[in-house]
Amino acid sequence: MSEIKLKSIIKNFGGNSIAVDNLSETFPAGEFVCLLGPSGCGKTTTLRMIAGLETPDSGEIFYGDKTFFSSKTGELIKTENRNLGLMFQSYALWPHMTVYKNIIFGLEMQKKSLEEKEKRYLELEKLFHLENFRDRYPSELSGGQQQRVALARMLAIKPSLLLLDEPLSNLDSNLRLEMRSELKRLHHNLGCTIIFVTHDQMEAMTLATSIAVMNDGKIEQIDKPMEIYNNPKSLFVAKFVGSPQMNIVNSKKDEKLATCLSKKINIEKEKVKNFGIRPETMKMVKQDDGDINGTIETIQPTGADWIVGVNVYGKSLFLISSDPPIGKENDTVGIFFKPEDCHSFDNNDLRIIKN
Ligand SMILES: Nc1ncnc2c1ncn2[C@@H]1O[C@H](COP(=O)(O)OP(=O)(O)OP(=O)(O)O)[C@@H](O)[C@H]1O
Ligand SMILES: [Mg+2]
Repeated sequence: MSEIKLKSIIKNFGGNSIAVDNLSETFPAGEFVCLLGPSGCGKTTTLRMIAGLETPDSGEIFYGDKTFFSSKTGELIKTENRNLGLMFQSYALWPHMTVYKNIIFGLEMQKKSLEEKEKRYLELEKLFHLENFRDRYPSELSGGQQQRVALARMLAIKPSLLLLDEPLSNLDSNLRLEMRSELKRLHHNLGCTIIFVTHDQMEAMTLATSIAVMNDGKIEQIDKPMEIYNNPKSLFVAKFVGSPQMNIVNSKKDEKLATCLSKKINIEKEKVKNFGIRPETMKMVKQDDGDINGTIETIQPTGADWIVGVNVYGKSLFLISSDPPIGKENDTVGIFFKPEDCHSFDNNDLRIIKN
């Protein structure tokens, strides 16, 4: 188990934009890192370069003391010699092979003895609750069972580094939940380093020990999930993580509301391009009892919570609460928030940290 270090990695496929833009980052040993970002931001390309399935235009990739790739020295370790576990969105098992054959495939490639294959198979069979499936073909398994076989196949060669690219995206929500706990358990038990690509912020928040938020071929922030949520470094990170997303109040467009926020948190409005406030940090109170008044526009019950849209000086703010709203549509209510829950972002869209 070792850390992964990327140094000045550039990958350009020749289009207008660069896929991975001078990326330097260290993913510490034993972490469950989620690469999170919108479509096209370079997640898969980054993962494929770590796997050796794509060659960077320039830069270096180290795994512990091993050099996976260096454009300086010309070193390049092939994928099959990187001791990786790989799993992609289309994790497809080989349909003509039984569960047993699928799982020991990597060991066959390594020309392991029959005893070794059998021993490892029995370990994995137990770990993934696959007893009784040994001679079945993939078409005779449920989706969740197929996923477990795919995980077992990936782990057969005892990789020290797992690279997963949206492996759960084909599953329905129940199975996803089940597989998430499976992966979490796996990470806990095996203690291996995992890099997991997703564009689903909820998946990243629940799985990762560390989230790397990517935007336009760069990592904007890498931190523990709650740190990303509570202390986003940029407007992009603030908006990308959280559902419903953070309310953004623009100093120019939403001037009256912005003035009110700047007073409450005691900051010069001129320094701030946007303010941000998370839906769950605002509390609905009686008219004139809060910091500002607004009119209820929409009420959306989700079952567990209520998402309420309130219009304040022409701007729609979303609040979320487990209590039912104290008013109905078109009622005027007050909104209360704590100054420490209001974020401010400067002209470069970076969060202003107040002392
Ligand atoms: N083989 C390729 N040839 C040309 N352009 C590519 C190739 N692979 C990726 N790209 C481009 O590089 C950029 C990054 O792609 P990448 O697949 O890494 O994004 P991603 O973050 O994984 O997106 P998604 O969430 O949609 O999977 C995109 O603009 C994409 O069009
Ligand atoms: Mg991708």
